[in-house]
Amino acid sequence: MALGLLAMGGLYAAFAPAQADETTSTDAQVAQGRELFTVNCSTCHGLNGEGIKLTDGDGQDQMGPSLVGVGAAAVDFQVGTGRMPLTQPGQQGPAKQTVFTDEEREAIAAFVATLGPGPAIPNEEDYSTAGMSDEEREKAIVLGGQIFLANCTACHNFDGAGGAMPRGGYAPSLHDTSPKHIYEALLTGPGPMDKFSNGNISPDDKRAVIAYIESIREEPEAGGFGLGAVGPVAEGLFTWLGIAVLVGIATWIAAHTTRTSKKKVEEA
Ligand code: HEC
Ligand code: HEC
Repeated sequence: MALGLLAMGGLYAAFAPAQADETTSTDAQVAQGRELFTVNCSTCHGLNGEGIKLTDGDGQDQMGPSLVGVGAAAVDFQVGTGRMPLTQPGQQGPAKQTVFTDEEREAIAAFVATLGPGPAIPNEEDYSTAGMSDEEREKAIVLGGQIFLANCTACHNFDGAGGAMPRGGYAPSLHDTSPKHIYEALLTGPGPMDKFSNGNISPDDKRAVIAYIESIREEPEAGGFGLGAVGPVAEGLFTWLGIAVLVGIATWIAAHTTRTSKKKVEEA
């Protein structure tokens, strides 16, 4: 009987991958996604993505929110940027190396998409600015800059360098984010960020914002040594410190010139 079981297992192992390769149906993908979800995500989001609330605490804290209706785009963003699986609830997940392969991420996204209708993973033509002519790009950068100034600088800083948020959170720097992840962040509004649905900022305008963010990465530091564009308050403080240092140096020089030393000699 043991031999029989072994033989069965061996046969299954030999044939199962081949079958999986053949069936590219989403059913298999969703099943794989559900399995990965159960192992990696359900402790916080619940077995069916319904979310898990902590009953103690102030009602604000939850292990993980409901994922019904967040859509494949939210999973692609959260898992693709390495934010999920979160290591500790109650903390903002930092962007880091993703722990899943592309195939696994797509499977989990496919599973979560079955929980309720939500935004799909965008296509390359939605977010890529590669096909823009020079003229189109220039126009897009101007438009994207206006949209960015009106909607994003409050949190991400005028230069996209990021900034602090209430309750220990932060808006990250946008200098390394891929166009796809920018598009998905707009679509799904991670954490405390607002959602910018396609009705709010159209796909064309989203691409303009991406073109603008790409353009500020390439911008040279006009004033020479850059201060990291941390904002007017910090940079202003830096200037005041600089002035204090210069005044100090001037005073020191004045106190050590030949005239002052001569006077001292005469006095002596
Ligand atoms: C209310 C503050 C706020 C506003 C307004 C806001 N964001 Fe965000 N944004 C955040 C926070 C906070 C995060 C990080 C969320 C997290 O990690 O859970 C974030 C994350 C992002 C990310 C992901 C970055 C990465 O590297 O993973 C992108 C891209 C982004 N925002 C772009 C934008 C753009 C473009 C706009 C304007 C259309 C905008 N945001 C408006 C707060 C904001
Ligand atoms: C340790 C707990 C924990 C684990 C494990 C975890 N998550 Fe989360 N997840 C959270 C919390 C908390 C949030 C809310 C984060 C925020 O709002 O900044 C979240 C947010 C999300 C969101 C965004 C929801 C939205 O409204 O846009 C998605 C999508 C998501 N998680 C998917 C996953 C997937 C997929 C996995 C498994 C690979 C996973 N999570 C594992 C705690 C967890």
